[in-house]
Amino acid sequence: MPPSSLRPLLGRTTLRTSLAGLQHIAVRRRCSAADDVQRARDFLRELGYSSEVSDGVLKALESPDWGLQPGQTHALVVKLAGPWEIGGDAGLKGLAKAVEREQLERAGTHMVSFRVHPSSGAPFKCSGFAGKTLRDIAEAGEDEGAQLLSEYLECACSGVMACSTCHVYVHSSWFAAVGPPSEEEQDMLDLAFEPRRTSRLGCQIVLRPELEGLVVAVPSQANNLFDHIPFE
Ligand code: FES
Repeated sequence: MPPSSLRPLLGRTTLRTSLAGLQHIAVRRRCSAADDVQRARDFLRELGYSSEVSDGVLKALESPDWGLQPGQTHALVVKLAGPWEIGGDAGLKGLAKAVEREQLERAGTHMVSFRVHPSSGAPFKCSGFAGKTLRDIAEAGEDEGAQLLSEYLECACSGVMACSTCHVYVHSSWFAAVGPPSEEEQDMLDLAFEPRRTSRLGCQIVLRPELEGLVVAVPSQANNLFDHIPFE
């Protein structure tokens, strides 16, 4: 038992020590929650989402609807990604798409419409935000036109100019506005199915407001050169 003269002092010291301990625990928790959010952000970036969309997704998950507890963000994002390694998804793609759409609308990004003529079947209309490629729209567009486009443009290499399955013929009256292919793109087009003077890769055509009303046609077949790359 400490002497009575020391007891008040000891009580204050114990209180200070306890407070310091609690503060330490709170700081550690804050750090680990911040680390957890950073891990979730890194994971989203690894999946190919831009930093704006990744941050937007993390912000959206803060909504009370998700019931997210501190330190659980990474686990929730991984859960939403589902079996992403084999092309699966458990809700993350839809969430990211909604976040991106909202960001683009808020920024007043122009919507560009274009027309697609398949080699057989009726022509159809598509639209997408300026800055997106035809491949982006085929892969992530939501309207009926985008879904049809995804049936015609396989985009097997995800836009790295290694497959030619996104090959389109730009209508001759639009070719100057779209512009010629780069040297690298032309190398791939030379190997595409029945290339023409106005051939372009859909993954390299970036929509701009000046391309409103663009017309492209889809060849009757596509050479998928990606299947012939010897991965080791
Ligand atoms: S998506 Fe493969 S070359 Fe365009």
